[in-house]
Amino acid sequence: MNKLIIANWKMNPASIAEAEALAKATDYENLVICPPFPFLSVVASVIKKAQLGAQDLFWEGPTGPYTGEVSAAELKNLGVKYVIIGHSERRKNLGETNEVIAKKVVAAVNEGLIPIICVGETWEQKIADEKEIVLSDEIRAGLGALAKLEGCENKNIYIAYEPIWAISTSGRGVADHPGDTIVTIGFIKKLLERLNYKLDNHFIYGGSINSKNAAEFLKHEEIEGALVGGASLRPEEVAAILAVNE
Ligand code: PGA
Repeated sequence: MNKLIIANWKMNPASIAEAEALAKATDYENLVICPPFPFLSVVASVIKKAQLGAQDLFWEGPTGPYTGEVSAAELKNLGVKYVIIGHSERRKNLGETNEVIAKKVVAAVNEGLIPIICVGETWEQKIADEKEIVLSDEIRAGLGALAKLEGCENKNIYIAYEPIWAISTSGRGVADHPGDTIVTIGFIKKLLERLNYKLDNHFIYGGSINSKNAAEFLKHEEIEGALVGGASLRPEEVAAILAVNE
């Protein structure tokens, strides 16, 4: 299938030795490994088939007085190709707004990094039938600035539909139904068409993906890949997910 599988390690593991071992054990084609910032170098130095991703970036740069932040240029210089932006855990824990996310998306694209923009609703929003409103807001704001950029046409963008309630650790830990994911992706595609965003959009799913359910999602052409959190820390799970993807 050759779909893109993105390993979001989140704030794991605790040591450089463990990060090195995990990267070596999960070095596959079609896998993007997104370790915490301190481990980007070591992962870059050991992977031969996988690609390197980051979990966030700052919109200013290439350098400057921004304590604790990391610029798109710094990531690029480390060999990073992809960057996750707007993950729900950052929106929730750090108060990241759609406006902040929009600036990060522009910074990534300007530096030639491929953004993986996370969107998704909470359980409360889902049962209140507010999913489409939430997704519209996130997409209009997240991509709006990009649409105004000169020369942004044909830029590679990944949109990760990640229902917050489906995330294994910070949500309820139950994956979406693949049929519902396809309907939601269809909704996002129509929205982008209406907004006339001429980007090279790709749509992936995230939320409790593991070796048992990966095939159910990846077999559908509408789902072009998966964002994997918890299972990406277990080499045997990564191997099984990648085997489905062959
Ligand atoms: P999960 O996390 O696979 O553990 O549900 C996905 C994510 O939060 O990106």
